Amino acid sequence: MTETALPKRRRWAGPLIALLLAAVVVLVGLLASSIMERRWEHQRPALVLKPLPEWEPDNARWGENYPFEYESYLATKQDTSTTLYGGSVPRDYLDEDPRLVILFAGYPFSVEYRQARGHYHAVEDVTGTKRTANPATVGTCMTCKSTDVPRLMAKLGVAEFYKTPFHELKQDIKHPIGCQDCHDPVSMNLRITRPALREAFQAQGKSIDQASHQEMRALVCGQCHVEYFFKDKTYLTFPWQQGMAVEQMLATYEGNGHVDFVHPVSKTPILKAQHPDYELWATGIHAYRGVTCADCHMPYRTEGALKYTNHHVQSPLLDIANSCAVCHRWSEEEVKARVEAIQGKVAALKLKVEDALVAAHFDVGAAAQAGADEAGLAEARRLVRQAQFRWDFIAANNGMGFHSPQESMRVLADGVDLAQQARLVCARLLAQKGISSPPRHPDVSTREKAWAVAQAFVQNQPIDLLGVAPPPAPASP
Ligand code: HEC
Ligand code: HEC
Ligand code: HEC
Ligand code: HEC
Repeated sequence: MTETALPKRRRWAGPLIALLLAAVVVLVGLLASSIMERRWEHQRPALVLKPLPEWEPDNARWGENYPFEYESYLATKQDTSTTLYGGSVPRDYLDEDPRLVILFAGYPFSVEYRQARGHYHAVEDVTGTKRTANPATVGTCMTCKSTDVPRLMAKLGVAEFYKTPFHELKQDIKHPIGCQDCHDPVSMNLRITRPALREAFQAQGKSIDQASHQEMRALVCGQCHVEYFFKDKTYLTFPWQQGMAVEQMLATYEGNGHVDFVHPVSKTPILKAQHPDYELWATGIHAYRGVTCADCHMPYRTEGALKYTNHHVQSPLLDIANSCAVCHRWSEEEVKARVEAIQGKVAALKLKVEDALVAAHFDVGAAAQAGADEAGLAEARRLVRQAQFRWDFIAANNGMGFHSPQESMRVLADGVDLAQQARLVCARLLAQKGISSPPRHPDVSTREKAWAVAQAFVQNQPIDLLGVAPPPAPASP
């Protein structure tokens, strides 16, 4: 068959189909670009992003460019949600658990200790708590509360910032934790703004600038949700020189002799743990599998065609469908029950350590009242210090052990063991003084009773812990 033999209509059919196809492609393209444009407008009502200065602390100004993230961030204001062990209500830990009044006797945490609220409240909560009422409070306490901090650090210098009295800094600090704490204003990439985390990496011979994008989704939180102390009374430092495990941090503290307060009953030099969320998370299965804080606490959210990161940082149990359920195909009830089962076991062991520790403080106090030798008392106090830091490491952690259940139970179990070892040492010391009956532990079963007992020791009017227990009633014939 030759070409001329082809029917005429077929000669123009090819080009026509090509033309039609081209038209369809152009139309689809136009449609797509119009959709994209609308989505863009939806997300960014301002046609052009307003440039943000390097240290812009006003979250509302960032919000003009990123309204969805800003609106969701504002939801951290909400403080009425509760879960079994968490939520945003500032519940009063001292009312719930009077043992804490004894464990923190003489220290500001025995005066006021409440559950954390959302990021929006950080500035009002740190300025409102009785724990910062002391005029000698240092500026360091502001480091993790406000997005004004990077700006002031750039202006004053880091060490000077820490040294500035808290009540002086207060005038310059208005904006709670916000956009700038975690983002670069030009690229919006995640960034580290707090020097202590950068320095803690350096101290371990690592550079935080090498962190991957996924690691950054946990490290931005690790700027604040960590264990720390004030080196030379002001310089914010993470005790990670030897590693992030509880024993390694304790070794660092033993090396630098750090003490937060001396317990008025047992005279133990106590370490107050902060909230080592990052360190505990790092030992768990989720960290091992690369699941970060943001995956659970800042899950993606979709609104129409738009997908964005929910900046309402809160308990994931209040948004299971978007967090856990993305990876775990369990029902919401199952997820919640699973979490509460894990937390319940941690909570029960936590209370056992507290009972053992309260008893240990009184036993050491009794041994001291009996005139036990200093070397023996020092050994008992060393054990109490070790036990209390382990207990507090988990107790002060957020999430009641969920972030790493096995590690939580391991650390608490060591805490019970060490507290009971301290009590055995005391029994031996008392026996050496001819006392074989157990010391008399005062009633500390309510917050008020515990407070009165603690105050007696704080004011150097100690209760007699050696009162001999009454003889057993004669056995009936
Ligand atoms: C696998 C999911 C998951 C990851 C990853 C995760 N968390 Fe959590 N987090 C939880 C759960 C579940 C709770 C318990 C919430 C409750 O009891 O209401 C919790 C509790 C908390 C709380 C207390 C919230 C409250 O309402 O009491 C804080 C603060 C917190 N996590 C911070 C972090 C930080 C910081 C990281 C990363 C270093 C992190 N979490 C990683 C799931 C996660
Ligand atoms: C505590 C840290 C933190 C704070 C505070 C924070 N962000 Fe984010 N933001 C994140 C994380 C984590 C992501 C996810 C980034 C990723 O994986 O690339 C994110 C993502 C974003 C994105 C990228 C788009 C998206 O939604 O995923 C924008 C835009 C953004 N945030 C804007 C803001 C604004 C505006 C504020 C202040 C109102 C703010 N962020 C405060 C941690 C934070
Ligand atoms: C600049 C320091 C800082 C950074 C960064 C930070 N937090 Fe917080 N976070 C705080 C403080 C302080 C509070 C307690 C605020 C209060 O009680 O007023 C808090 C509270 C919380 C709460 C309790 C909220 C509630 O409603 O129960 C959660 C959950 C939480 N943070 C998770 C995170 C996660 C996840 C990240 C990282 C994406 C992060 N935070 C980054 C300082 C920070
Ligand atoms: C980004 C994915 C992801 C998210 C989000 C996530 N998980 Fe997981 N989870 C995992 C992976 C991966 C494992 C490890 C499972 C394995 O390797 O077999 C795991 C393991 C677990 C386990 C078993 C732990 C153990 O020790 O055996 C529990 C329980 C769990 N997740 C609960 C939760 C809860 C509750 C949430 C929400 C607060 C959550 N997960 C959010 C991915 C996720």
